[in-house]
Amino acid sequence: MSNPMRVVRVGIVGSGFAARFHLEALQKVYGVQVELTGVYSPTEQNCHKFAQENNIKAFHDLVSLVDESDVVHVCTPPSTHEEIGIVVLRQDKYVVIEKPFTGYFGSGKNFSGDSFDRQTGLEGAAQSVRNLLNAEAKSDGCICYAENWVYAPGIQKEKEIIEKTGAQIIWMHGEESHSGSHSPYYGIWSHSGGGSIMGKAVHPLGAALYLKQIEGMVSQGRPIRPATVTARVHFVTRSEQFRDVGFIKTGYTDIEDFGSMHIVFEDGMFADIFASELVLGGVHNWIEITANNHRTVVNINPNNSMQSFNPKASQFNDIYVVEKIETKEGWSSISPDEDWYTGYQSEVQDFCQCAASNTIPQSNSTLAADTILTIYASYCSAAANGKEIKIPTSV
Ligand SMILES: NC(=O)c1ccc[n+]([C@@H]2O[C@H](COP(=O)([O-])OP(=O)(O)OC[C@H]3O[C@@H](n4cnc5c(N)ncnc54)[C@H](O)[C@@H]3O)[C@@H](O)[C@H]2O)c1
Repeated sequence: MSNPMRVVRVGIVGSGFAARFHLEALQKVYGVQVELTGVYSPTEQNCHKFAQENNIKAFHDLVSLVDESDVVHVCTPPSTHEEIGIVVLRQDKYVVIEKPFTGYFGSGKNFSGDSFDRQTGLEGAAQSVRNLLNAEAKSDGCICYAENWVYAPGIQKEKEIIEKTGAQIIWMHGEESHSGSHSPYYGIWSHSGGGSIMGKAVHPLGAALYLKQIEGMVSQGRPIRPATVTARVHFVTRSEQFRDVGFIKTGYTDIEDFGSMHIVFEDGMFADIFASELVLGGVHNWIEITANNHRTVVNINPNNSMQSFNPKASQFNDIYVVEKIETKEGWSSISPDEDWYTGYQSEVQDFCQCAASNTIPQSNSTLAADTILTIYASYCSAAANGKEIKIPTSV
């Protein structure tokens, strides 16, 4: 029998935005003793600052960090996930890979996300997924796919409803949007592997694919997988017609800033997913589920669990309200425990428990693979102005 109380040694790769919220969540894990091994990132100054601030060791190379860890959290740009993930899996360790799992990052010099052949992109992304899945198959370790929406309390409650009522999901529609990403890597396809579809739609898409997996497990003992996709993308902030008045982030190099996807599942049911960098008012994360026996709306952000009116913005200067909000003046939908609502805490809890008990997490490599294949099939569709494209079901 597994020993769920054993110590799990956890290392973090990357010292940016995601590394911080992973570390905070790791500090709150219960039932498993987490020992923080340390951090490695090539931006040495940041790495040392991060290590100092959090009283952990700074490593000078990846391999030493992996050597001393049981679980490694990969909080680095998407273009690096495959290489780092494989290094960790080869050492038979658990690897937590941030979204998006992996992708196609171009052919090196002179590559532009605006002009490459999307079919090549789909094949390249499928190859990268295959490399990671093969490494996992040969490893005693395991891939934990850091899709926090899977662990958002609303999605977990919906899972319970599906499991206990045997619901059939007919249609899901959902969105992740805000007014633009902070990471310097984000707007460059060779680092990010895509724009709004890759960076943002990946979340509601992950939740939708997960819920159909759950439905399939209940009804037929195997997941219901995505079959085809129809998609469109737009490049609003790079268009000459866009009138920039300073509220929406601009400056993306070669990615889209709007995407929509219509996914049809194996059972003929469907989902519509939207994502953009164009929406003011804080992060807009929601999904609605229409089933044959119920209907659910999950508002991750904003939700109305706490609403506050502030007549003077400066009063809230040192008060965190909600991700990406442009102003704290007037009414705000405060997220009183954002990491819990977004699923970060429960995600890291599940990963630590799985590593301690040598089990597979709810958000795993199957979900990660389906998400990436759907995304790159979407880019093929968008390049053909919305032609329906078959999603590869296996790599
Ligand atoms: N789940 C979420 O809600 C969420 C939110 C933000 C970011 N993310 C994901 O987290 C990942 C990191 O994003 P971020 O916002 O923290 O970016 P960031 O730019 O803030 O930080 C990236 C970090 O990776 C390091 N790095 C770059 N190349 C590396 C390499 N080859 N090896 C090791 N380290 C390397 C950099 O030094 C930096 O410390 C991305 O995959 C992103 O999509 C997820």
